[in-house]
Amino acid sequence: MSINWYPGHMATARKAAAESMRKIDLVIEVLDARVPHSSCNPIFERLRRQGQRPALKLLNKADMADPRQTERWLRYYNGLPGVKAIVVSAKKSSDVKRIPIACQALLPDRGTPAKPLRMMILGIPNVGKSTLMNALLNRRIAPVGDQPAITKMQMFHKLGPGMSLVDTPGILWPGIKQSALYKLAAAHSIGRGAYEDEDVATTLGQYLLSEYPGRLAQRYGDLPADCQVHQLLDLIATRRSLVKKAGGADVLRASVALINDFRDGALGPITLETVDDVGAELAAGPVLPA
Ligand code: G4P
Repeated sequence: MSINWYPGHMATARKAAAESMRKIDLVIEVLDARVPHSSCNPIFERLRRQGQRPALKLLNKADMADPRQTERWLRYYNGLPGVKAIVVSAKKSSDVKRIPIACQALLPDRGTPAKPLRMMILGIPNVGKSTLMNALLNRRIAPVGDQPAITKMQMFHKLGPGMSLVDTPGILWPGIKQSALYKLAAAHSIGRGAYEDEDVATTLGQYLLSEYPGRLAQRYGDLPADCQVHQLLDLIATRRSLVKKAGGADVLRASVALINDFRDGALGPITLETVDDVGAELAAGPVLPA
């Protein structure tokens, strides 16, 4: 599976993000707690570090992520200079209320009408930016994807006296690593037309068989000893009566069922990458695409 697109509006959005970065004091980066490393856009991370802007990293969708791994990710991010990380679920108002307080704590000398705290919210598609913006601003705003990129980039919203927030469209980056692609597809951050369900389900299934076999058994029934991913997909098809017209297990529909069960949280809270899994990439820092 490979995705080699970088639509024009993403290039425009990237330029506008670089411009906005100069006008703000702090970056709020929304990450998907199920894929905390893969959902970090290296272009924005590099821009942020170059601009020396502190970051509040939100490990969002924590309700769907493995709490043990979230705890480890939290410790990792909180060990980085200029970074504060917190665990949130954008759908919980008590979590959302912690965000302005955490921003203020990162830059305590800002946040007054005379010295405002200007923030920018960043995140790849589907990590929960619109949900968070709506909750933070206590109103319904148009989904990020419905507005032209430039307008979105320039719109500052008032968050309170002395605090404002600029929105950005969720964009991906060119040359996403193969190892990250399936995780982003599973998390629904990549559009359906850009990958094959069977490819995503195969890699997802392998990871789940290795790290969360008990959850699979709970959802689909007992698994054979040393279950391989093709057996898992066959088993899902058989137990769900997903049969092809010509006969035989419908592996494609079983693949979609597995992906949807992961996305809907039907397999329980799961994280697809650990700090150890991606340790080498973390040590290398954000690598810009060629
Ligand atoms: P975006 O602007 O970054 O693209 O994301 P958006 O807010 O639109 O959220 C994407 C999906 O994730 C939405 O579900 C939203 O309800 C859900 N979501 C956001 N934050 C959280 C969270 O903390 N926990 C959980 N469980 N869900 C969250 P959706 O409209 O049903 O879309 P989809 O999941 O079917 O793609």
